[in-house]
This record gives sequence, structure tokens and C-alpha cells, in this order.
Amino acid sequence: MARYPSVRNEISQIFQAAFRSTVGEWVSVEPIVIACNNPKFGDYQINNAMGIWSRIKGMQSTYGNPVSVAQDVLRNIPRTSMLEKTSVAGAGYINVTLSARFIAEKLTTVLHQGVDALAPELPVKHALVDFSSPNIAKELHVGHLRSTVIGDSVAKMLEFCNVSVMRRNHVGDWGTQFGMLLEHIFETGAEVEAIGDLQKMYVEASERFKSDEQFKAKAQQGVVKLQRSEAEYHAKWKSLCDVSRRAYERTYGRLNVSLEEKAESFYHPYIPYAIKSLEEKGLLQESDGARVIFLKGYDIPLIVTKTDGAYTYASTDLAALWYRVHVEKAEWIIYVTDVGQKQHFDMFFQAAKLAGWLPEHGFPKAQHIGFGMVLGEDGKRIRGRKGGVLLANLLDDAKSRSHKELIERGRKGEWSGEDLEAAAEALGYGAVKYADLKNNRETTYRFDFEQMLDIKGNTAVYLFYAYARVCSIIRKSGRSIDEIKQTCELVVEHPHERSLGLHLVQFTETVEDSISRLLPSTLCDYLYTLSELFTQFYTSCKVNGSLQEASRLLLCEATRLIMKQGLELLGLTPLERL
Ligand code: ARG
Repeated sequence: MARYPSVRNEISQIFQAAFRSTVGEWVSVEPIVIACNNPKFGDYQINNAMGIWSRIKGMQSTYGNPVSVAQDVLRNIPRTSMLEKTSVAGAGYINVTLSARFIAEKLTTVLHQGVDALAPELPVKHALVDFSSPNIAKELHVGHLRSTVIGDSVAKMLEFCNVSVMRRNHVGDWGTQFGMLLEHIFETGAEVEAIGDLQKMYVEASERFKSDEQFKAKAQQGVVKLQRSEAEYHAKWKSLCDVSRRAYERTYGRLNVSLEEKAESFYHPYIPYAIKSLEEKGLLQESDGARVIFLKGYDIPLIVTKTDGAYTYASTDLAALWYRVHVEKAEWIIYVTDVGQKQHFDMFFQAAKLAGWLPEHGFPKAQHIGFGMVLGEDGKRIRGRKGGVLLANLLDDAKSRSHKELIERGRKGEWSGEDLEAAAEALGYGAVKYADLKNNRETTYRFDFEQMLDIKGNTAVYLFYAYARVCSIIRKSGRSIDEIKQTCELVVEHPHERSLGLHLVQFTETVEDSISRLLPSTLCDYLYTLSELFTQFYTSCKVNGSLQEASRLLLCEATRLIMKQGLELLGLTPLERL
């Protein structure tokens, strides 16, 4: 598949050449190209003239000020049909306006080659996204929603760019909690069939662990027995893991998220290799019998093995990183957890750099992306552990609310029960995902069903309606897009055709920005604006039955393709009819 640079990159290339012809003998310059917020100034602004001038002013006598630099740069632009207008404003800002023909041609490429032609080129081929990663015996709660949907969207964006992604579920199946859980279950003889039973056992066991010294000692021995693979312990542990796993799979299925599990226990045999590598680099120190690494910028050390020789969360993460870099050859390793774990990640990443597993800069690279808390409608933190809000219940609720809405809008008579179910799921789960993704992931957000199912605001429901509208316009034309594509040309004329077209061709740079900042919210903002621009277009430009019908249908089709791709990158399943 042929791939095209983003519009921003194309402009950048043009200006790189113009800078070289203008001031190349004195300085080399990387163009600063920014999309304009206000169309009055043009589509993009190039903000280099001031910087160039201050660097060259002592070296030459040709240019008296940044404006004269900017003017000459414009004279040196290579011939191109891409730009319709260029100008210099204020202190030396260069403004450029794309030609309508360029926009139309770019969209025509999408119509003929598909939306893949808009995928940005990335500097890596293999990535690993570590996300969701719940701890066995605990039900998925609202905190896991964030990790799961953010991780899935990041993985999808990378996949769209032809990166092969290992979607890794780093399930916590190996901690000290298993000692207490197993001993408690053995003592009470409780039957554990569903994850609810397991969660109950977990709560009881941890109460006992805190208050009963004897039980605590027994639990600690229990972990050792498990880690030594004693038959009874190992078999029970495995059955508990299976109970949890079945529950997780159900929820992932509902969210349509695929994950590949390599749980903490998987890395157990690799921990000694990782430790040996740290040791060889002279990084390990003894501290009260524990083995630790002191790191720049932290008062407390990273604990690699505890006083009793036991491994920690960090030991496993070190081994996992070692494995991911050396065995799995991942070039970009992205961890998605709450911001509370930032220090843990910063510390073991630093250790990995000291050990020489990762370079100081560039790839392979490990990166943690943190997210904020989810607050309830009352503004208080939603807690998952002790009977807080479970993800499964939340999804049930979302589905039944959107089901009700669809019935209220009279869909019951029109659709089969099955279609209604499917739509309620796509809409309800989509609303929950989108409400999460549209926030800058680092901030906390308030979980509010009313708001997320609002048909007017920045919600999945609004985007779904816009998408269904595009589809319905195309459907109602009664014409075949394939045929129009072969016989008619897409022309961009009306100002609202132009603003929609311009936004559409900016899809590539939006995905680029979403990936480089690892912020799906950037893509959400883009899609929201796209829906608004589309609404503006079809309210002011008649499509079916107009003189421009064929061209406008092509514009609708380009919108449909890009909108669909964008929604899918967020993990949403748009519906053609709503
Ligand atoms: N199981 C952890 C938790 O629930 C998250 C694991 C994240 N991944 C990792 N490699 N540490 O908090």
C-alpha cells in the first residue's frame, strides 16, 4: 500500500527546500508548521522567520528583519500545486492556504486506495502494549476500564500504522496474596466457582492476614509452597486463576478487546537472568539482607529481592522487561496503568538503562502512560475492591440505558430484537469507552451516564448519529459510489465543503499526534470536530438532487471512510442505521 506523508509533513518539505535556498549558507532549519485555528489567516502557519533572523542577523546584510526573511522564503518556494495562497503577517509569520484541488486530489486518493493510504509511517515495526493487567481474584472494576480502553486504542492506532503489536495482559497471578488466599480456602473448604466467590475469599483472607499473626505466618509459608510448585498448592492456584480468567474473558469479549496473556508467573524463571545481568553491571547493593538498586533522584531504592529472598512486583517487571527486549525484540514497550504507579515504572526503567538493556535515548524504548482516577457521579472516587463499581455491572447498566433510549425513539417496531440488542451494545459500550477516552488520560474524570448518553454533546452517541447520517445520505441517493468514483470527479467549492475537506485530509497528522503523545483524546477531539463540520456541510449544501450531487456524494463517502476508521481506532463499532 502506497503511503503518503501528512499534509503537515508535505508543507514542511516545501519549506525545508525554501529555507535551504534562502538562508542555507548560514543556518539549517527544521520547519515549524502549525495548523491555524482561525481560517482567516490560512490553513497553516510557518513560524521560523523570527528564529532564523535572530540566528543570522550578525552574519549578513541582506535581511533587515524577520519579515524580509519571510518574504524571501516565499519567493524561494519550489513550484507546487499544493498551495493556493501564501502571505506574511505580523512579525514574520508565514501563512499558507491549501489549494482546493490539492484537497480534492488527496480525498480522491482515499476513495480509490482506501483509508490505509492515510496511515502515518512510524520508526518502529514491533511494539508491546501492556494493558488491562488485573490481579487474579479481583473482579475487573472501573479502574481497569481505563487501562483496557486506553491500551486497546493505543494498540489499534499502532496497528493501523502497520506496527505489529503484542497486546499483553500482565495478569497479577503470583503475588504474596496467593499465600493467604490459598490457606484461607484450604481451611474453610470453600467452593470457588465464580469470581464473586473468589473476591469474597480475598476480602476475608486479607482481613485475617491483617489481624491474625498465626494466619499471617502460615500465609507467608503458603507462598513459598506455591512458588516451589507443591502439587496441592499449584493445582488450587491454577483453578483459581481459571475462574478469574473466565470472568475477564467475558468482559473483554463484551468490550471487543483482544489481549494475549502472559501473567506474572510466566516470568518467574527469568528473574534470575535479569538479576544476574544487574549484578554483572555492579548495580545491586545489600541493604538489611535485601538486594536493592539505588537510583538517581529517589530516596528509596528499588527492591530487587526482599530480606527473605522473595521476589517483588519490581523483580517480575525487571524480568518481563528483560524478556520483552531480548527475547520478544519489542522496540517500543508501552505500559498503561494509573498514574499512582509512575514512580515504580520510572525506577525500573532507569535500572534497565543502567543495565544496558535500553539505550538512554531512542529505541528500544519503554514508556509508562498513566491515567487519572474515575470519580462517581457524587464526585467521589469509585472504588473497585470492596464491592465498589464492577465493570460488568457498569456495562449492563450502559446497555440497558441505551436499549431504553432506542425504544423511546421508536426503534422497537422498526428493528428486529437482535438488531436492537446489537445497537444497544454498540451504543452503550461505545458511550462508556468514549467518555473515558475523550478526557486527557492524566486527569480524573467523573463517570456520568446522563452526560455520556447525551445525543448533543461530545459523546459517542453524537458521533454515531453523525456517522449514521452520512450513511443515510449515501443510501438515500440510490446510487453506487463505486460507479460515481469511476465516472465523476470530487470537487471542493463551497466554503463548507472546503472546511470539511481540509479537516479530512488532516487525519494523518491527527493520528501522528495521538501516537506521539499517546493520547487517544486527540483523536476524539478530531472526530468531534469532524462531526460538527459534516453537520455544517449537509445543512448548508444540498447533496441528493443537487447539481453537485455526484461530487458531494464522494465527499460524503470520504467522510464516511475516515470517520469509520477514526471510530474504530477508539474501539467503537459505528452503526450504519440509528
Ligand atoms: N497488575 C497491576 C495492577 O493491577 C498492573 C500491572 C501493570 N503492568 C506491569 N507490567 N506492571 O495494578
